[in-house]
Amino acid sequence: MTSASWSTALRGRFLAFEGPDGSGKSTQIGRFQAWAEAQQLPLTLVREPGGTAVGERVRQILLDPIHSEMTVRCEMLLYMASRAQLMEERIEPAIASRACVLSDRFVGSTLAYQGAAGGIPERDIRAVAQVAIGGRWPDLNVLFDVDTETAMKRLNPLLDRMEGKGMDFHRRVRDGYLAEAHRDPKRHLVIDASRSPDEVFEQLINGLRRWSESFSPAVAG
Ligand code: TMP
Repeated sequence: MTSASWSTALRGRFLAFEGPDGSGKSTQIGRFQAWAEAQQLPLTLVREPGGTAVGERVRQILLDPIHSEMTVRCEMLLYMASRAQLMEERIEPAIASRACVLSDRFVGSTLAYQGAAGGIPERDIRAVAQVAIGGRWPDLNVLFDVDTETAMKRLNPLLDRMEGKGMDFHRRVRDGYLAEAHRDPKRHLVIDASRSPDEVFEQLINGLRRWSESFSPAVAG
C-alpha cells in the first residue's frame, strides 16, 4: 500500500517533536511539512513556547538572555502558560477538525529541561501540565536523540538563554528525554538524530508508519 493510504491514519492525531537543542528537529519539521502536503494530509504546525500572539510574547521573555535571574519554577510556569493558550486557541480546534497536529516541543520538553535538568520534581510538572493542557497529552512523542557533543557543535554561536546553560545541563536534558521514552515506550518513537538528514527522515517516516499500524491495522502495508 502507498504512503498516501497509511498517512490518513495520522488525521486527528497529536504529535510532538522533541529533542535537545541541536538535534536537527527543525530541519525534520520542514521535511515533514513538505511530506504531509504531498500526501494531502491536513497539518497544523505549532511551536513552543509560542504559537499564539500571547505565547510569542511569553517566548521573548523566556529566551532573552537578559533574564538571567529567572528561577526554574518561574520558567516552568511560563512555559505552561504559553502551552495553556496554545492548547485552547490552536491545538484543540485543529484536532476537532481532524487535522494532524504537530507541536514543535510540548510537555516532554518541560520534563527534560525544567525537570530532569532543572530539578523540579516530575510529579509537580505533571500536575501543572494537567491544568495547562486539560488532559490532552500527545498521542506520540518523537524524540530526535543526539549525543550532547554533536548537538552543541550544530548550534549557532549566538546562544539563547536556554542554549547557554552549559554541557552538564544539556547532558541531563538528553538523559531525561531517554528516561521518559524508556518509561513510556508506547507513546515514544526514538530516532537516532546523529545521522544525515536523509537517514533521519527515513527513520521518522518508517517509525510513523509502524506506529500508525498499531492503532489502524487496516491501513497497514
Ligand atoms: P526551540 O529552540 O526548539 O525553539 O526551543 C526553545 C527553547 O526552550 C529550547 O532551548 C528548549 C526550551 N524549552 C524548555 O526549556 N521547556 C519547555 O517546556 C519548552 C517547550 C522549551
